[in-house]
Amino acid sequence: MPLLIRNARILTLAGPNRPRRGKELAELGVIPLGDVLVSEGKITAVGPKVDAPADAEVIEAQGRVLLPGFVDCHTHACWAGDRLDEWQMKLRGVPYPEILKQGGGIRSTVNAVREATQKQLAASLRDRLGVMLREGTTTVEVKSGYGLNTDAEMKMLRAIRRAAAEWPGTVVATALLGHAFEGDLDEYARMVVKDMLPEVSREFPDITVDAYCEAGAWSVDACVKFFEKARKHHPIRVHADQFNSLGMIPEAVRLHARSVDHLEASTKKDLITLAQSPTLGVILPGTGLHTDQRFMRSRLFIEQGGALALATNCNPGTSPSHSLPLAIALAVRFCGLTPAEAIVASTVNAAAVLGLDDRGSIAVGQRADLLLLRHKDERQLAYELGGNPVELVVVGGNIVR
Ligand code: NIG
Repeated sequence: MPLLIRNARILTLAGPNRPRRGKELAELGVIPLGDVLVSEGKITAVGPKVDAPADAEVIEAQGRVLLPGFVDCHTHACWAGDRLDEWQMKLRGVPYPEILKQGGGIRSTVNAVREATQKQLAASLRDRLGVMLREGTTTVEVKSGYGLNTDAEMKMLRAIRRAAAEWPGTVVATALLGHAFEGDLDEYARMVVKDMLPEVSREFPDITVDAYCEAGAWSVDACVKFFEKARKHHPIRVHADQFNSLGMIPEAVRLHARSVDHLEASTKKDLITLAQSPTLGVILPGTGLHTDQRFMRSRLFIEQGGALALATNCNPGTSPSHSLPLAIALAVRFCGLTPAEAIVASTVNAAAVLGLDDRGSIAVGQRADLLLLRHKDERQLAYELGGNPVELVVVGGNIVR
């Protein structure tokens, strides 16, 4: 049945069919009071006054904000176990290396993931996807990366596929094959290129691959060798400069990475290089909030014409948050984004990170993933802390909440 949402304050985000850069990030394309008609999963009309067929279901928005569904373009939402004990240790002041020594950190999640069945991993991911949907996320990227051997990585990717099939929104899986390593890094990285990557490619031919470039994780050299192979068949993304600036940004740009994510420790020169390239930057302010209060210098990046996206980085270690509204509130407080920029970064630009151009804006022909807020002013999204602003969620033309 067609669906008409009428008398809404519509943030169309209409614009070019590409990520928004620099000043464009502030353009919401507002229709102050208008209607949106949806039919067969797509937006079929948008404007100040739209005629609807007689059989259309009608939602009266009473001037509240209607915007595209959120796209969470960076999560590690598939995990088993929890990290509550180590979090308490951290709160008591125990240093991270000591926590690692006691079996904490990524290692503890790897152990829990290896012990879990595919079914258990899918079930816990499905629960998290349910929470995300209630807060307005209609498309989400979910990475593997807690397996650290071929069998466990494949189990994670299959669990993500299984959970995705039972969720009304869209899940985009990413093969994070370079998250950490066991034994010697060079030997481990060679194993990933020789064994793990071909196996992933066989079963998930279109999947994006990712690596974590950081001291104690993958080196620039290991990442470059891995990406040189992987990019022949897969789009690539990279985590870089979370704690240390190792020089991955120029390499990521040279290798045409879709995005570089984290960027808290990036140098000014590298941020300018990234801003002036087609590669998107992804900020993850939940991580700074939960760990060490360091955030990316996003203003510089935007002023240099960069294309920025925003995500939760939902994971059990550094960002236990499912909420893009919270990420928006944090990006405005700690990364210097305006509310409008944070909305563009978590919709149309986040979709671009995932290679999706059929969502993230409200225009004829776009997928009908829509959110009706309980607010009449979109700045409330950034202003309010912790209250769910989302009243109605439409996915592929269907009301799901
Ligand atoms: O983005 N940077 C690498 N990975 C995650 C941490 C994952 C974990 O601690 O479990 C992050 O912060």
